Amino acid sequence: MTVLVTGGAGYIGSHTVRALVAQGRDVVVLDSLELGHKSRVGNVPFVEGNISDAKIIDKVCRKFEVSEVIHFAAYKAVGESMEQPLRYYNNNVAGTIALVRALMANGVEKIVFSSSAAVYGNPDHVPVTEDAPLRPESVYAETKAIVEKFLSSCESIGLRSVSLRYFNAAGASADATIGEDWSMSQNLVPLVMKALLGFSGPLNVFGNDYPTPDGTCTRDYIHVEDLAAAHIKALDYLNGGGKTLACNVGTGIATSVLEVISIAEQVSGQKVPHIISSRRAGDPVSVFADPTLARALLGWKANHDLRDIIGSAWKWHSSSAK
Ligand SMILES: NC(=O)c1ccc[n+]([C@@H]2O[C@H](COP(=O)([O-])OP(=O)(O)OC[C@H]3O[C@@H](n4cnc5c(N)ncnc54)[C@H](O)[C@@H]3O)[C@@H](O)[C@H]2O)c1
Repeated sequence: MTVLVTGGAGYIGSHTVRALVAQGRDVVVLDSLELGHKSRVGNVPFVEGNISDAKIIDKVCRKFEVSEVIHFAAYKAVGESMEQPLRYYNNNVAGTIALVRALMANGVEKIVFSSSAAVYGNPDHVPVTEDAPLRPESVYAETKAIVEKFLSSCESIGLRSVSLRYFNAAGASADATIGEDWSMSQNLVPLVMKALLGFSGPLNVFGNDYPTPDGTCTRDYIHVEDLAAAHIKALDYLNGGGKTLACNVGTGIATSVLEVISIAEQVSGQKVPHIISSRRAGDPVSVFADPTLARALLGWKANHDLRDIIGSAWKWHSSSAK
C-alpha cells in the first residue's frame, strides 16, 4: 500500500510527502526534476522520470505496490502557458492521460489531482463555490479544467478522483527547511520576500482603486502545510469509498495585497519597498473560496492564518536566499 506522488520534488509536493511520511504512510516520489529538487524529498524512495513514460510507471507500480496517487506533476506558469500552449497541453493534459492509462493497467484506481482556483477565471460571486461555472482564462487554467473533466469521465471505467482546487498556496515548512523557489514563481508572497530582502526592485502593486476595503485586489492565501493535509484527507476520502469530487481548498478569507505587505512588515521588522502601478489587465478584483464542501466531505479545514504563512515564508527565504 504505497502512495505514488508525482511532482513530489516540487514546492507543494515536497510538503505533502513530508506530511505523508509523518503519518507513517509508504511513499514513492516520481519527478522529472525539470523544476524540482531531489534534496526536498530527503530519504523517501525517489524515481527520476516522466509521468508520460508508461514503462517507468509500470515499474514503479509493481516495485512499490502502488495503491493510490497524488498527482502534482505539471507546468504552472500562466504567462508561459499562453506562449507555449503545445508544451502545456502536452505535459499537463497528454501527460496525465498517459499516467492514468498506465496506472489503470496496474489496477491503481484512486487519484488526487492538483487543480486550481484558476478554473473559475473571474467568478461572478465570491466566496466561490464548486458549482460556479468553469471559465478558465489562460492555457494553464484550461489544462486544469480539462484534466478535471477527463478524470470525472474516467469514473465510469473505475477511476475515482478528487480534484483539489487550490487557492493561493504560500508559506514554507515550520522548520524552514523547504519552501517555495522564488526563481520560478510569480506569486505575491515570494515577490514580497524578494523585495524585502533586496533581491528585486520595489514590489509592483497593480491598482489601488478596486472596489475593496483598501482598493487592492483580494485573494485567498492558503498555507502549504494546510494544503498538504488536504491531500491526505482526500486520500482517506477515496479509501473510504468516496465518489469523484472537485473541491475548493482555501480558507474562505479574502486578503488584500496591502494586508500581505503590512503583515510582512510586522513579521520582518522592515519596510517592504513597493510602488503603486496601474491595474493589470485580466486581474480579478477578488477571488476567495467557500471551503464548506472540503469541510463536509473531507473533514478538512485550514489551521494556519496569514501571519503563519508570512512568518514561515520569511523564515525560509531569509535563511535560504542567494
Ligand atoms: N503553487 C501554486 O500556487 C499552485 C496553485 C494551484 C495549483 N497548483 C498546481 O499544483 C501542482 C504543484 O505545484 P507546485 O507549486 O508544487 O509546482 P512545482 O513546479 O514546484 O512542482 C511541480 C513538479 O512537477 C515536476 N514535473 C513537471 N512535469 C513533470 C512530468 N511530466 N513528469 C514528472 N515530473 C514533472 C517538476 O519537476 C516539479 O518538481 C501543479 O500541478 C500546479 O499546477 C499550484
